Parts: sequence; structure tokens; C-alpha cells
Amino acid sequence: MELYIDDANTKEIRRLSDIYPVDGVTTNPSILARTGRNPVEVLKEIRTLLGPDRLIFAQAIPTDAEGMIRDAHAICTLLGEQTIVKIPAIPEGFQAIRQLKKEGIRTCGTVVYSPMQAYLAARAGAEYVAPYVNRIDNLGYDGCGTTITIHNILKQHGCPCKVLAASFKNSQQVLTLCAAGIQAATCAPSVIDGFVNNAAVKEAVQDFVNDFRNAAGGSENMADLLSGSGES
Ligand code: G3P
Repeated sequence: MELYIDDANTKEIRRLSDIYPVDGVTTNPSILARTGRNPVEVLKEIRTLLGPDRLIFAQAIPTDAEGMIRDAHAICTLLGEQTIVKIPAIPEGFQAIRQLKKEGIRTCGTVVYSPMQAYLAARAGAEYVAPYVNRIDNLGYDGCGTTITIHNILKQHGCPCKVLAASFKNSQQVLTLCAAGIQAATCAPSVIDGFVNNAAVKEAVQDFVNDFRNAAGGSENMADLLSGSGES
């Protein structure tokens, strides 16, 4: 499963991409607004951090097709080739996605709350569709179930579009979708950290360190023990 950071805090992006196998960063207007900085400056900095080869997702702001297309051109000029333009999966958005596909501009149908929105965005030519898992849960529906339905519909109809699951509140939601074969997920930093935040694992690792120190007469690691520089 491709893994993206759903955040625009550049310190967090640097920290997480140093640790985890991260495929890129997704943003939306609200995420950019939370930085309190100029969105263009933030996006440029994220591109520099990611380098030229990893994907950055940035959203077109207008709600009419012509405006979306104009924004898509501006976003791609700003961020380069490995850019996916997020377009809301609304009627105007399908129109924009179809035109952008003809121009070779890569898109993600976003703000997906229902399978048919995803299907239409995929048929229009989106490379990704982004169901909002937790927001669907909060409406009283099944976010993971809806996402798996979308995945199955796209497979059954031979659509090459990938599902980029978004809007997570916990790692269990991500695990459920990973196990179901969903191709991509984008998660807030706290959710990514939550994948491996396990007290039992930390304790097991510390036990190994302590046992080695006891066995090696106080040496903290294998390298020191072998070079004879550890205590004895
Ligand atoms: O990528 C879409 C996502 O950012 C929405 O997440 O947490 O605002 O529901 P959230």
C-alpha cells in the first residue's frame, strides 16, 4: 500500500519521511491553512523536501470546471511533474478531470463520500479517488466498508484508478484497508506514529539491550564489544 503524509507541517514531513517509507504528501486547503503560512510557500517547501520523484497532492480551489482546470495548470507549473491535482468529485469536477486527462494532467477525485462519486471520477480519468473514511463513519455509515466497495467496483469494471483512502482517525481503520488490498492511504502524522506505538514492543527491545549489557560486562553494543572499547 502506498503511504502518504496527510499534513503540510514541514517539520513533521521531514521527521516522518526520515523514518518511514513514505511515498509523498497530500494536502488540501484546510491542511494548508493550519500551517498559518502562505500556501504557495508551504507547497514549494514540501516539494523541495520530497525531491523531484515523490508525489505531492494539491487541491484546485474553484468550484467551477474552468477554474479547476486553471488551478490545475498553476499547481503543476509550481510543483512539477510528480504532482497530482485533487479535484472534488462533484459534477463540475468530473468535467475538469476529463479535460485534464486529455492534457495529460494527473488527478485525484477527492471529497468522496459515496461509491458512485468515486466511480464517476474514475471513469472521467482520475488516477486516484479519495474516500474520506472517518468522515463517512461520523455520518453513521461504514467508512472502511464504503472504501472496500469502491475498490471492488473499480476492479470489477477494469478501471485503472487507484483508491487513496483518506481521513483516518486510528491505525485500525488503515489496517483494515491494507488487509483488503487498498492501493494507497494518506494519514495524519499521529495515525502514522500509531502504527508502531506499542508499549510491549518498546519493552521487548529494552529487554534485549539490558540482557546484552549484562552478558557483555557493561558493553552497550556489539561494535564496542568487538573493538574492545566497552567496559569489562
Ligand atoms: O485528505 C483528506 C483528509 O485530509 C480529510 O481528513 O481528517 O479532515 O477528515 P479529515
